[in-house]
Amino acid sequence: MIGARCAEIHSVKPGAKHDPLTPFHAMSDFDATDYSLADFQWNDNPDVLSPPKDFEEWSSDPRIQVAFDLFEQELQDSPSARTTMRSNIDGEAREVINLTSYNYLGLSTHPEVVEAAQQAADDYGISSSGSAMLSGTFDLHNEFSEQLAHFKQKEACMLFSSGLGGNMGAIQGMLQPGDVLVMDEKCHKSIVDGGTLARAKSVSFEHNDPESLDAQLERHSDKRCLVAVEGVYSMDGDLVDLPAIVEVCNDHDVPIYLDEAHSTLMFGENSRGVAEYYGLEDEVGVSFGTLSKSFGGVGGFVCANEPLIEYMKSYASPFQFSCSLPPPIVAGMMKSLEVATRDDTLQNQLWDNVEYFRENLEAMNLDLGESESQIIPIIIGDSAEQLYPMAVQAQQRGLFVQPIDFPAVEAHARRFRISVSSELTQEDIDEACNIIEDVIARPLRKSA
Ligand SMILES: Cc1ncc(COP(=O)(O)O)c(C=O)c1O
Repeated sequence: MIGARCAEIHSVKPGAKHDPLTPFHAMSDFDATDYSLADFQWNDNPDVLSPPKDFEEWSSDPRIQVAFDLFEQELQDSPSARTTMRSNIDGEAREVINLTSYNYLGLSTHPEVVEAAQQAADDYGISSSGSAMLSGTFDLHNEFSEQLAHFKQKEACMLFSSGLGGNMGAIQGMLQPGDVLVMDEKCHKSIVDGGTLARAKSVSFEHNDPESLDAQLERHSDKRCLVAVEGVYSMDGDLVDLPAIVEVCNDHDVPIYLDEAHSTLMFGENSRGVAEYYGLEDEVGVSFGTLSKSFGGVGGFVCANEPLIEYMKSYASPFQFSCSLPPPIVAGMMKSLEVATRDDTLQNQLWDNVEYFRENLEAMNLDLGESESQIIPIIIGDSAEQLYPMAVQAQQRGLFVQPIDFPAVEAHARRFRISVSSELTQEDIDEACNIIEDVIARPLRKSA
């Protein structure tokens, strides 16, 4: 019984080390830094209103508390390249260079976007106050859905009030018990949760590995399968090897679901994303995008053939049972689409910044993984003891860059993740790199 329970616990999170049947206070050599969030997903407390018994002891350790303090820090200004942040670490409000936002093209504060949102707030109020199906579809939603479908070269589009809801809802709308969701192992949690919501079997293949994908499709050849991949992977900034994935999927006659959260408005001649960049748009069955990143707003959208979109509307809970996007957001996002596609100004600024930033980081001999995009990881290795003090020092020097720890990434590849924005100036990048050299690169060289 005990063994079975532990097996269940360990199947919850690979890499979990803590056996809840051996409480921390009973361990003479308990060291909080040996454990991670992976260890507390299983709650052994009979009271569902309480966290796992050891969680509080673990999380109150000062070294762990620092990690929690680095979450949910208070921004007191827009998510721009320079912003004001009140630090959870020392309570100070300071101006920081912001390398954490996905506002890649600076559209969340673009004057035309803000003006469009303000005008829509005057015309429609701030909320649609109803689900799209029953009372929350406005002319703005219809117009924007059509624009997005046209932009993504698909027949139809449905809007969701979050990107996460979009992935979950679309996958729930397409799959059913008995189906198989075959995901790249680096896919976002919203795709994983979509499989859970659909009660489909979820399996993964090795990152960007066509042979591993082929083996999974072979194994499940008697089932209805959907292959999910991302245009740009959010922790590593590398691109999907779409030509190889398409070849395998075509061999098995299995459709592709492509999450272009971090690539829409960024890649391809017309900024339609990575599928356009590879010239493979027709090979993608469902194209997902979010409005919270390069669009600078909030919401998700899913584009596919019209019968599928019409069908999914009745079965995707985050669409059917949730309030539709606020009209000011929709109007703002329509303007974002227009601004970002009328010429390449913002994209050129962004890619110039990415190149300049990358050159500077490479000159410091930092490990940038396989990044090919505006997401650049600085992989520091397995040392959590270095990760958090570095993050705190960076912040105190005026650089907001987030540490990413296990289990979000593998324990041997802890990292900082830089999101480059078109809004950064060369001076911002120079200053950021000086801080990175002092608090990350030099200490890493010393400890090598
Ligand atoms: C690849 C990917 N898909 C989906 C989402 C969810 O998008 P949103 O934050 O807009 O809900 C994210 C968010 O970070 C993401 O990185």
